[in-house]
Amino acid sequence: MNTKQHNDKPEIILTGDRATGSLHLGHYVGSLKQRIALQADHEQTILVADMQGLTDNAHNPKKVSSNILNVVADYLAVGIDPSKTTICLQSQLPALAELTMYYSNLVTISRLERNPTVKSEIQNKGFERSIPAGFLTYPISQAADITGFNASLVPVGDDQLPMLEQTNEIVRKVNSLAGRNVLSECRPLLSNASRLPSTDGKNKMSKSMGNAINLGATEKEISAAVKLMYTDPNHLKVEDPGKIEGNVVFTYLDAFHSDQEYVKQLKEHYRRGGLGDGTTKKVLEECLQETLRPIRDRRRQFLNDKAQLVDILVKGSQVSRAKTSEVLFNVKDIFGLNLF
Ligand code: TRP
Repeated sequence: MNTKQHNDKPEIILTGDRATGSLHLGHYVGSLKQRIALQADHEQTILVADMQGLTDNAHNPKKVSSNILNVVADYLAVGIDPSKTTICLQSQLPALAELTMYYSNLVTISRLERNPTVKSEIQNKGFERSIPAGFLTYPISQAADITGFNASLVPVGDDQLPMLEQTNEIVRKVNSLAGRNVLSECRPLLSNASRLPSTDGKNKMSKSMGNAINLGATEKEISAAVKLMYTDPNHLKVEDPGKIEGNVVFTYLDAFHSDQEYVKQLKEHYRRGGLGDGTTKKVLEECLQETLRPIRDRRRQFLNDKAQLVDILVKGSQVSRAKTSEVLFNVKDIFGLNLF
């Protein structure tokens, strides 16, 4: 992975997750694995985005508050190490909210309405004309998250690319106002693994749509999810030739099975005919059970010691408050607002 800048200084990395539910296998393949790899030799911060979580959950704030520690436990369970990665809580960093206010003056409503991710979220959530202002403007707050840490590299899924584009537009506006480069532009770090489909093969995996396998899923939940998984609808009899493309069972085998030579053989057999979905699902179930068992166990242990999780967030937020305040100071300076 080439993530070094020209001057060989490690890049600053910032990522975040909305605290609206436990993390799932899509997060694991799409971004968590990269974060684990990057933490050894980068300055990496992970932001638990509780305020962004509220932008479409203000009527049900418990959905956010009750998931903050779950998300932290998910991080630790997969191997994010708080001695290498700073884990902080968005609502504990007031500088980010202040930056959002300043940046809001540099972004038009029509630009926000054109953001493709926001657009499709508005549709999926059925907001129609009742879009919360906080929701429409969350890309601005995300720009504050990223620039608040001076991050140049953001490991995300491809649905987040429009946010980074908007962030860089804001960065350029701020820098042009300042007449010098006060903020750094950022670039995405996309995972090589293609996006993991939902278990029903229809949509993006979603914490709320019940088509994802959570990192803390029980044995029974994993088993039920695999049983319902979308395969090839035309593969009716075992002896029928089957299709691999769009067959979610094989996409997951590609992502998780440790013996890819064996997966290749399974695919050939499936294409020829003579291999039933029951069998491929059994192979996948075993593999997922094996992958998730240790993660689930560690997750449970971490959740048994909530004080430790809170302590990690307190320490991480303290470090992050210092960093984000410095950026805020520099941005306020551009507007001539550091009078005293
Ligand atoms: N929008 C991201 C998501 O839905 C969460 C997020 C908040 C984020 N702030 C961020 C991601 C900053 C990357 C950088 O998952």
